Amino acid sequence: MTILVFGGLGHVGSWITHDLVSRGTDVAVFDLGARAFDRMDYDYLTPLRDRIHLEAVDVLDTHALYDRMRAYDIEAVIFGVAVISGPEFQLRPFRNIQINTVGLLNVIEACRVLGVPKFVNMSSGAVYGDHPGDQTEDLPYKATDLYSGTKIANEVLALQYGETYGMDVRNARLFAIYGPGKRPSQMNALYQVLFGPLEGMTGMSTPSGADQIFDWTHVRDSAKGVIDILDADDVAGESFNISCGTAFRHSDILQQVRELIGYDPHVTMGPGKFLNRGAPLNIGKAERLIGFTPRFGDIREGLADYQRWLNPATTDRGAT
Ligand SMILES: NC(=O)c1ccc[n+]([C@@H]2O[C@H](COP(=O)([O-])OP(=O)(O)OC[C@H]3O[C@@H](n4cnc5c(N)ncnc54)[C@H](O)[C@@H]3O)[C@@H](O)[C@H]2O)c1
Repeated sequence: MTILVFGGLGHVGSWITHDLVSRGTDVAVFDLGARAFDRMDYDYLTPLRDRIHLEAVDVLDTHALYDRMRAYDIEAVIFGVAVISGPEFQLRPFRNIQINTVGLLNVIEACRVLGVPKFVNMSSGAVYGDHPGDQTEDLPYKATDLYSGTKIANEVLALQYGETYGMDVRNARLFAIYGPGKRPSQMNALYQVLFGPLEGMTGMSTPSGADQIFDWTHVRDSAKGVIDILDADDVAGESFNISCGTAFRHSDILQQVRELIGYDPHVTMGPGKFLNRGAPLNIGKAERLIGFTPRFGDIREGLADYQRWLNPATTDRGAT
């Protein structure tokens, strides 16, 4: 039996793939980026390369999707293909909404037709919009931008597929993710200002964001949470918040980063919020029902781990 990880070469997906393969699970990665695997920066996945089935499938290409999914005896599907949140999302709305939402529809419909028993949807705390903190799973949905609209649509579609066709569907609501696997220099302006100095970047700025409070979560904890949801018994139809559980002011994160690198990287962040979101996610339900515990609840440890991964020549590379 095989677990299919859609988006299994993405930031979170690559760690899900790593952790599942490391424990002996048979994994097929369905990701448009699969042909470029050898040019990727995934030092943690490379040693496992021979144990991963790689499928360069576009989730919008239904013919290829059915053709390649039929090749496996599928135990579960984890869906993590997305164009992620950020100011760039609205620059190509039709394309990005299709990838997120038609992409999920194509995959969950294939799961229905092929009789896949379990579907885990990687969702987002963006489904709470700008609700001001301590967001619990029973709050009503609130979209505050196009991206959050796609994540709400996906949750509703996935849960209704579950209800209508008796499928076991689970939602993992992830939140602002940092850590090994993504270089700040490849990311959006907010991510670069906060984490770029760990990679040696200097002089970046954003017009806003200093007063935003986010529960930034180390990617290994996000991946672990998704696997905990996958493994749990009797949670069909449930949604779980997965984050570090503690909110940090961006200006405080900048200070932590300065202390870690030991010099001033000359970054500036204007006042107010960068994204129209509240925080933090309340992770009590995940702690109680699926035993989720973040390893990097203290962001200083998470930042130090990230710094080690970004600078293997000067530090012992992290992410063990
Ligand atoms: N990164 C965050 O801060 C964050 C926060 C909350 C929720 N999430 C959610 O978590 C999930 C994973 O996010 P991530 O940060 O790992 O994203 P990512 O951008 O790193 O990974 C997405 C993957 O999808 C693949 N992909 C894109 N279009 C495709 C297509 N048409 N067909 C097949 N594959 C395609 C890409 O190659 C990439 O490997 C997403 O659902 C995202 O919405 C992420």
